[in-house]
Amino acid sequence: MGNCMNTSTRVDNALNSHHPAYPSKVTSKTSLSSVPSNLTKCSSPSTLTIPSYGERSESLPTPQTEGEILLSANLKAFSFNDLRNATRNFRPDSLLGEGGFGYVYKGWINEQTLAPSKPGSGMVVAVKKLKPEGFQGHREWLTEVNYLGRLHHPNLVKLIGYCSDGDDRLLVYEFMSKGSLENHLFRRGPQPLSWAIRIKVAIGAARGLSFLHDAECQVIYRDVKASNILLDSEYNAKLSDFGLAKAGPTGDKTHVSTQVMGTHGYAAPEYIATGRLTAKADVYSFGVVLLELLSGRRALDKSKVGIEQNLVDWVRPYLNDKRKLYRIMDTKLEGQYPKKGAHALANIASQCIQNEAKIRPRMSEVLASLEQLQDPKFGVLPPQIEKSKVSNTNTVMKSPVRSHPSPHWSSAGGSPLPPHRRSAQIH
Ligand SMILES: Nc1ncnc2c1ncn2[C@@H]1O[C@H](COP(=O)(O)OP(=O)(O)OP(=O)(O)O)[C@@H](O)[C@H]1O
Ligand SMILES: [Mg+2]
Repeated sequence: MGNCMNTSTRVDNALNSHHPAYPSKVTSKTSLSSVPSNLTKCSSPSTLTIPSYGERSESLPTPQTEGEILLSANLKAFSFNDLRNATRNFRPDSLLGEGGFGYVYKGWINEQTLAPSKPGSGMVVAVKKLKPEGFQGHREWLTEVNYLGRLHHPNLVKLIGYCSDGDDRLLVYEFMSKGSLENHLFRRGPQPLSWAIRIKVAIGAARGLSFLHDAECQVIYRDVKASNILLDSEYNAKLSDFGLAKAGPTGDKTHVSTQVMGTHGYAAPEYIATGRLTAKADVYSFGVVLLELLSGRRALDKSKVGIEQNLVDWVRPYLNDKRKLYRIMDTKLEGQYPKKGAHALANIASQCIQNEAKIRPRMSEVLASLEQLQDPKFGVLPPQIEKSKVSNTNTVMKSPVRSHPSPHWSSAGGSPLPPHRRSAQIH
């Protein structure tokens, strides 16, 4: 989940300072955030209807208490012992990563019974273990169970089960073998993502968000960022971390009032300023992710100088200038991207990050525009043939080589971990 408002992860808006290279969370005390059962406070007080998106529709009863949420989620309830066995006692070499919520381990369970199985046999899962840091972590854990237990879509990560055993809180997800988009964009090591894969990832994430925003009971995700977009073996993107998700406004209401939560560099300006949350805040954050896909730079990077520290501020003047766009393009693409497609993507991103929320497009419109980028006229070819074909066309735009230091990640026992972002945050 990783979006805990516990003391180690919380950043007061007014007192913010950042780790040199990593974005930090933002909170401010504009109002209290709601409890997870808000998911259900929609036009229909007793049911949650989720529209089909090539998958299935569901009409679910409204859970109210924690017990009801856990029961209604239709998830496997694991014991702590189950998950200890599934992860080989949370061995360091099973570690997949670390976020604000805690550590994430690789584990194995039996596909049919969901009982822990021998490493290497059965189904691989990702087990997230909450750091024992109090009520807020528990609250986000429950929010995640509430949303992901009931929302199902190919572009949302699948929650398989949970564990609530004494003080221990864990979540068990489908394993996403390519890790997070953040790893691919900013980590040294893996092959840089090709242009076609970047478009595929953007489309997948946009589908997930459109699904949430267009649900009969709208869900605002509130934590769109590269580390929350996970990739499966074929680079299908899935949104993870629903700990900050909120029910959208209902009836005549234009927004929901919340305590400001999110991540610096991604959070929409009007939301930070007022705490008034609309789905357009997600659109803004998604625009920032598009900028990261274009530029290969982090939303916030204090290792850079001046205006380049903030990606939105730095790129804004270039986005709609066809002659200058190359200056902000990711040098790791080595010029292997179609000029027209890059301009179109920059244009979509620029609309998403407009300061005035009302004139930002809806996610469904963003999705439709992104899907058009797969049209051959924008130069995107299927990922497997893209490189050879594109390099034979003259649609490719060359960008000058520019030094592009990425932050280092430490790697222990084959399990790459980002540096401790949390410790850099002000509480
Ligand atoms: N389902 C999964 N499959 C494979 N790897 C995962 C899965 N979920 C998380 N991970 C790995 O664990 C890392 C940590 O994830 P986590 O969601 O806890 O934190 P985060 O998103 O990086 O940070 P934040 O706390 O700011 O959201 C991810 O970057 C990813 O590499
Ligand atoms: Mg995350």
